[in-house]
Amino acid sequence: MYQESIKNFTIKDDALIMGIETSCDETAVSIVKGGREVLSDVIISSATEHAKFGGVVPEIASRAHTTAIYQATERALKEAGKTLEDIDGFAVTYGAGLLGALLVGVSYAKTLAYSLNKPLIPVSHIRGHMAASYIADKSLQPPFIALLTSGGHTAIIAVKSYYELEVLGSTLDDAVGEAFDKVARVLGLSYPGGPSVERLAKEGKNTVKLPKMFKGQGGYNFSYSGLKTAVINAVHNAEQKDEPLLKADVAKSFQSAALDILADKAIEACLQFNFNTVALCGGVAANGYLRERVNNLASQKGIKTVIPEKRYCTDNGCMIAAEGYLQYKAGNFADLSLNASANVPLK
Ligand SMILES: Nc1ncnc2c1ncn2[C@@H]1O[C@H](COP(=O)(O)OP(=O)(O)OP(=O)(O)O)[C@@H](O)[C@H]1O
Ligand SMILES: [Mg+2]
Repeated sequence: MYQESIKNFTIKDDALIMGIETSCDETAVSIVKGGREVLSDVIISSATEHAKFGGVVPEIASRAHTTAIYQATERALKEAGKTLEDIDGFAVTYGAGLLGALLVGVSYAKTLAYSLNKPLIPVSHIRGHMAASYIADKSLQPPFIALLTSGGHTAIIAVKSYYELEVLGSTLDDAVGEAFDKVARVLGLSYPGGPSVERLAKEGKNTVKLPKMFKGQGGYNFSYSGLKTAVINAVHNAEQKDEPLLKADVAKSFQSAALDILADKAIEACLQFNFNTVALCGGVAANGYLRERVNNLASQKGIKTVIPEKRYCTDNGCMIAAEGYLQYKAGNFADLSLNASANVPLK
């Protein structure tokens, strides 16, 4: 019966889409109107429960989602002044992410869509991160270059249309966010690592010699495992030789080495392929140094920047609703056989 309904849903321009995100440690539910206007944005994070383990524990994340998701939904509806019946489609992250965590959101969205006989919209978490740009700049339209910098992904993507993406380059090993998290661990900083490294870097100088990965080479690809290992070696060598090494200097030097290359290559891609806008997305885009560097380089070259508020860089439900809206407009609905997937292709 639901299978038949999928063919007959009416598509509205000002649709209210509920975005449900449970791929990692944030249970996020948002309601977005017409793909751009945020009516509510609720995030219940289990980060403090993971902090004592120094990283996300998948089983703890899944359990936290099951207890938080109903409350997050109730709050999202209340904040928006809407009821479940008002929602025109339920968009949910089906991947990439932790399988058990994703399954909570997928099962929940299926239940809502089926019981209310409304579209179930599967959304790629990565496309979601890019769609945060449409909330950040309500007039933004493709084409633009997306600099995707998150915990699991690092790439430069040409967004040719709302639906057509071309990956110009990506990391060949670790993601930049992953490198921040590992460097934070070796420096003894708290989880999540990115913000801790950024805070410490503010007190340091760029004096520790680290490799400049793929500077001026490697096309639009990146590599972070060598940089990460160089930081670990620098810290361990200093400890073994009992030499002074200021952690703040390590943080500052690592931050510059990790982020300069991202900003440089994103601007280079704009110039080479004649795109006049660059959009930052993913958790690392919350980093003030990266935001400023991209802004400065872009303005020197007459390129426009779209830099979402920090809360829209890290995982949130609004970005899933924004991408969900695009998929809704294209009629890309799932049936009740929708499954979660730990990995999804970048595009
Ligand atoms: N201020 C910051 N500076 C640097 N990195 C940061 C900052 N804030 C967050 N991060 C990093 O961003 C990552 C989290 O971002 P995000 O939520 O996009 O990742 P994810 O959802 O785990 O991965 P993905 O989106 O690739 O599946 C973490 O690696 C975190 O350390
Ligand atoms: Mg993410």
